[in-house]
Amino acid sequence: MEKRKSNQKKNQPNKQSKLGKLNEEMEQSKSCCHLAGVRTNIVPGEGSAEAKVMFIGEGPGQKEDELGRPFVGQAGQLLNELLAEIGLERRNVFIANVLKCRPPNNRDPLPEEVETCWPWLRKQIEIIDPVVIVPLGRHAMERFLPGMKISQIRGKVMRRNVPKLGVKVFMPTYHPAAVLYHREWLGALREDFRKIPRIIEHLESNLEESVEDGGNGVFEWDSLEIQPVKNRQEQGKLL
Ligand code: URA
Repeated sequence: MEKRKSNQKKNQPNKQSKLGKLNEEMEQSKSCCHLAGVRTNIVPGEGSAEAKVMFIGEGPGQKEDELGRPFVGQAGQLLNELLAEIGLERRNVFIANVLKCRPPNNRDPLPEEVETCWPWLRKQIEIIDPVVIVPLGRHAMERFLPGMKISQIRGKVMRRNVPKLGVKVFMPTYHPAAVLYHREWLGALREDFRKIPRIIEHLESNLEESVEDGGNGVFEWDSLEIQPVKNRQEQGKLL
């Protein structure tokens, strides 16, 4: 099987500078949505332009809004710990949100806010081109895997052809903030994080397999393998 070619050195300045330019555009755009008018700082996201995994949360909270950085509160602390457990640091991954500006009083993002903000996130994904995207919680999941339930699909590895983005691999899991309230979900969140290095390894060494079904598919995690689910009904939900 053909391996994903390592073009890290060649692409690094390019991806990095593209992300830098995009960040500047985001900073300057003060009227893309009404939330831009009430934010303290925009929170574009942070991490490596060469990240193989991209974590996508919901939107900035109070601390993130103050500092202009994602996941810097208690949920961020848990995220850092989960990353450390799988041998990763924040600087090796990319962390972003579906919303770049804080919704007042941390209310849930409105669907129209998510759609207005989507072009920024889409461009970030296009530039970074991660091997796997990990939507954290139902709001991030809904953007990519609409109509699904996080409790039912968490930890599943799914391929989806996202309009205007193309074929991407997702492994949704619980939002760390939700797990702080529901400590009983911590085991599941941990279990999902532990899959990440093996998902990357598997997908990097099986690139052809990852596109053979034309884009959409659900995979069940089976030990070290990612296998297509045979159940057509389940696949059909994604098509
Ligand atoms: N919750 C999120 O969804 N994103 C953050 O950046 C912080 C908390």
